[in-house]
Amino acid sequence: MTVTAIVGAQWGDEGKGRIIDYLAQQANMVIRFQGGDNAGHTVINEYGKHALHLIPSGIFNPQTQNIIGTGCVVNPQSLLEEMASLERAGVALDNLWISQRAQMLMPYHRTLDVLEEAARGSDPIGTTKRGIGPAYADKAARAGLRMGDLLQPDWLESRLDSALITINRKIEILGGQPVDGQELYALCMDFREKLGKRIVDTVPMTRRAIERGEAILLEGQLGVMRDLDWGIYPYVTSSNPTAAYASSGAGLPARTIDRVIGVVKAYSSAVGDGPFPVELHDADGAKLREIGQEFGATTGRPRRCGWFDGVAIAYAAWLNGMTGLAITKLDILDHFETLKICTGYRLPNGGIVRDSMPETPILNHVTPVYEEWPGWQASTEDCRSWADLPGAAQRYIERISELAGIPIAYVSVGAERDQMFEV
Ligand code: GDP
Ligand code: IMO
Ligand code: MG
Repeated sequence: MTVTAIVGAQWGDEGKGRIIDYLAQQANMVIRFQGGDNAGHTVINEYGKHALHLIPSGIFNPQTQNIIGTGCVVNPQSLLEEMASLERAGVALDNLWISQRAQMLMPYHRTLDVLEEAARGSDPIGTTKRGIGPAYADKAARAGLRMGDLLQPDWLESRLDSALITINRKIEILGGQPVDGQELYALCMDFREKLGKRIVDTVPMTRRAIERGEAILLEGQLGVMRDLDWGIYPYVTSSNPTAAYASSGAGLPARTIDRVIGVVKAYSSAVGDGPFPVELHDADGAKLREIGQEFGATTGRPRRCGWFDGVAIAYAAWLNGMTGLAITKLDILDHFETLKICTGYRLPNGGIVRDSMPETPILNHVTPVYEEWPGWQASTEDCRSWADLPGAAQRYIERISELAGIPIAYVSVGAERDQMFEV
């Protein structure tokens, strides 16, 4: 069996949740390796429609162990709400675990995210306001609390007291209300009561699974273009969605990862600020948003839409060491007479970049170079094999694969679990 990392190959919302839900049917373990409840991973199956924020997308398969990994920032309140919503839908949570080493995202991180965004004035990052940046900043500053701290009340209390000295000063400087340590401690004791039995050392679990040769999926959040190091800095998230972080964030040796599947939408979408060269402000952009239902699964914000970006996929494929692509939302393109693929960025000096990703200030001033592809104008929703696809759709996908330099592994033609096939 294999260890497979599943990562976003664009700006997030590529359909990672639905791919993982599909693959988890054959997996023993799914580990979310980074991010927090900024994620919205939509899964549609016999339990209904769920936008998962922290809980791994393998949760619907009762045989699969689901771990919120060390590389995540966990907001216990939002996790409890998500657990309640799944339980109401009849989903069993017996196999849900949280790494004791994962960071705990506190209410003051959300407060700081809102205040810091406001302080950025007319040039915000467009965060989800879930406190992700401040929580990872505290982790790096060694001022964070970890989920395992909930199991050590004395330690937790002293860590909280020491964190609040700086946190409250920051909040006051930014014009907010300082927080009360005793109230927060009481809240943490409530989290301990409700989540304590799920907080574990994950290493024995992953080690045993690897030794037994079990199938493990590593679930990424967001996509490479919002990676802290490799994305459109500073309009990025505060962790690394790229596959290189999967082993560290999930807690298994890097060399155990055999496959890296890049999830890629058949066109482009982004939510939040920052340069997005292929963004369309015309009727085609509006049509992609409308047919693709491109509204944020976490914040409900309308997503910016555009044609497929071949420069970004080449960058994403190489950086992630992808072994296969999972193309999603092909069916959305059923309704277009002509399609475009961006194969280069034209720089202000007239030069064209094809095989590297310019830095943010330059990316702000590039214009996409497009090639045109004929649409197929037929429904792909019932296709269940490569041979079922219209010829024009096959050629469009083959072009994406060629630009990425990676073979196609899966094609998704609808949001339902069975609307997908292996190539
Ligand atoms: P994620 O964050 O990468 O898991 O993606 P999101 O869940 O935020 O966004 C993907 C959206 O597209 C969700 O609403 C999915 O239900 C939907 N979706 C995924 N794959 C397909 C597909 O092949 N066709 C259609 N029509 N919708 C899809
Ligand atoms: P999934 O996992 C799309 C974007 C925000 C903002 C930037 C930083 O569902 O693909 P943050 O709150 O992380 O500090 O925001 O990243 N962003 C996402 N965009 N999908 C997501 O998650 C996102 N999570 C964060 O819009 O631009
Ligand atoms: Mg999403």
